[in-house]
Amino acid sequence: MTAPEESTFADLGQVLVIIPTYNEAENIERIVSRVRAAVPEVHVLVADDNSPDGTGDLADKLAADDDHVRVLHRKGKEGLGAAYLAGFRWGIDNGYDVLVEMDADGSHQPEELHRLLTGLRTADLVLGSRWVPGGKVVNWPRSRLLLSRGGSTYSRLMLDVPIRDVTGGYRAFRKETLLGLGMDQVASAGYCFQVDLAWRTVKAGYKVAEVPITFVEREHGASKMSRNIVVEALWRVTAWGVRARIDKLTRKNRTT
Ligand code: GDD
Ligand code: MN
Repeated sequence: MTAPEESTFADLGQVLVIIPTYNEAENIERIVSRVRAAVPEVHVLVADDNSPDGTGDLADKLAADDDHVRVLHRKGKEGLGAAYLAGFRWGIDNGYDVLVEMDADGSHQPEELHRLLTGLRTADLVLGSRWVPGGKVVNWPRSRLLLSRGGSTYSRLMLDVPIRDVTGGYRAFRKETLLGLGMDQVASAGYCFQVDLAWRTVKAGYKVAEVPITFVEREHGASKMSRNIVVEALWRVTAWGVRARIDKLTRKNRTT
């Protein structure tokens, strides 16, 4: 065994790792304990949408035994984006300085969290990236690989954002970044929430950095990805891109 990595991020302030959950009973204990072991000083907020499989009760038990763990119980399934927005607001209201997004299913490895936090020392948003050198995906079917790469490329071209992994969900934000990007206007419910926030961050002039991660497909439970989620992402990204082009043209016409 190697000695645990020196991991003090006190210079960044208080860090909150937000884990949204919907039916993650098989994963929640493991992920929380991995986070706590990887970077012991961070706090964890489980944002559960009243999962029928009892994930919320399991999270309450973890919170009862560990003062670094809290649970936000939400009334029902409203999508990943809504759960994160509620988690961000809770974190900011409770005095946290850094807000991290992490999936419950082990795809985002807590052992790589130190990379994101280190990156945040010189950036306003750090993205864990599968599509930069050193980044990888383990155990994904070809269909999912194509969807993710295609989604990222389409968003990058349509929105003109200089980011390789625009759809990824392993991220660390400074509180100021979230406050400055207009969180209250975000309407995206599903996974295009990730594209939405990355785009807003770039447009607001914040510095975005990508650090390589290895994304590991879940072993337990099921993905919540659905046709509706893909359709929402496609129409929203297309609408944003078209509107941005029209705005650019009308601005040009006004000045000439
Ligand atoms: N509270 C809440 N409500 N949590 C949800 C909901 C919801 O409606 N939908 C999904 N989640 C939680 C899951 O329980 C899991 O912890 C996390 O959000 C990610 O959901 P998955 O269903 O495992 O997502 P995925 O593996 O298909 O997609 C991942 O990769 C995408 C990019 O390829 C996620 O990281 C996405 O954010 C990312 O866009
Ligand atoms: Mn997953």
